[in-house]
Amino acid sequence: MSERRRVAVVGATGVVGTTMLELLRQREFPASEVVPFATERSAGRELDGGLTVQALNDAADLEGFDLALFSAGAGTSREWAPRFVEHGATVIDNSSAFRRDPEIPLVVADVNPHALENHPGLIANPNCSTMQMMVALAPVHRAAGLERLVVATYQSVSGTGKKALDELDEQSRADLAGSQAPAPRVYPEPIAFNVIGAAGSFADGDDHTDEERKMMFETRKILGDESIGVAVTCVRVPVRVGHSEAVNLQTREPISPEEVIELLAATPGVVVEDVPTPLRAARRDEVFVGRIRRDESHPRALWMWVVGDNLRKGAATNAVQIAEALVERGLVKAGSYRTRGRRAA
Ligand SMILES: NC(=O)c1ccc[n+]([C@@H]2O[C@H](COP(=O)([O-])OP(=O)(O)OC[C@H]3O[C@@H](n4cnc5c(N)ncnc54)[C@H](OP(=O)(O)O)[C@@H]3O)[C@@H](O)[C@H]2O)c1
Repeated sequence: MSERRRVAVVGATGVVGTTMLELLRQREFPASEVVPFATERSAGRELDGGLTVQALNDAADLEGFDLALFSAGAGTSREWAPRFVEHGATVIDNSSAFRRDPEIPLVVADVNPHALENHPGLIANPNCSTMQMMVALAPVHRAAGLERLVVATYQSVSGTGKKALDELDEQSRADLAGSQAPAPRVYPEPIAFNVIGAAGSFADGDDHTDEERKMMFETRKILGDESIGVAVTCVRVPVRVGHSEAVNLQTREPISPEEVIELLAATPGVVVEDVPTPLRAARRDEVFVGRIRRDESHPRALWMWVVGDNLRKGAATNAVQIAEALVERGLVKAGSYRTRGRRAA
């Protein structure tokens, strides 16, 4: 990786963007320059590492970027990611804007990197809950074939961004001080000392949340197998960082808990532990898997408990790993992706 690349980070002041900047530094990504973008509100702010935030607006200079890492919400990605592609950058997008587009690869760096070949200038990073589940399940899928998954998530508040973390802090402080907590603004119910049994939002007429739909769709796209049954309930819990998931997996071929433990213990990026917790997984790049045991109600079903840092492997680490893979494979290139005449994904 001798040639150095000029990199834009869009959404650089958010919880994911901040983690991306930190990882680019820590992993010594071969960057000639990193330019952080956010809204006009943040323009001029100096970040840790001495970079100054640029406003992403019509006056922004989009010329000369090799790579652009986006984590600024789907609306911003829809508007600005294709403009970066048109100016010659390869975009890695963390939002949900392009994940369903059949032309756009949806990539977990250590699961389906082959999908990067022939990318059209834009690559989608999966949803955080799907990402950590894929790292844990792809080896089992390769060994025994996944037939059906039944999943309940326990998703942390940082998964919703910095405003949600502020809401958790304000409500927790007020509750502990015995004072009236401010009314919820980000979530429909208080999140401090509570559990919300529907993480995400409901589209008109749908009885599943968008978070649940993402896990159902993205699992099949990443594993390249439309026949896998996926049933999901996404739940928000008052944890700051780190998503947990209870995963019931039914395989096509028999596989024992001992074989799965052996398989996962040998998988890079996975740590097998008895009972992983989000506090221990926070600020770690690996996915932690525990409670691997037989589901006694079915001859080919197992349980596992999967925990990962949603800001790291669930978002920023995977995006930076994709950037590294693109550089290593010579796939940083001007792409052909355009939105004109295309239905928004
Ligand atoms: N949080 C997670 O665990 C996670 C995981 C996977 C994917 N994602 C995705 O990553 C994206 C960011 O999430 P987050 O949790 O980091 O959110 P966040 O903490 O709320 O940060 C949002 C960032 O986007 C910037 N931004 C918003 N609108 C913009 C615009 N029009 N132009 C330029 N910048 C704009 C914000 O800038 P200001 O500070 O100036 O407002 C801020 O830097 C979302 O699409 C989310 O779905 C998040």
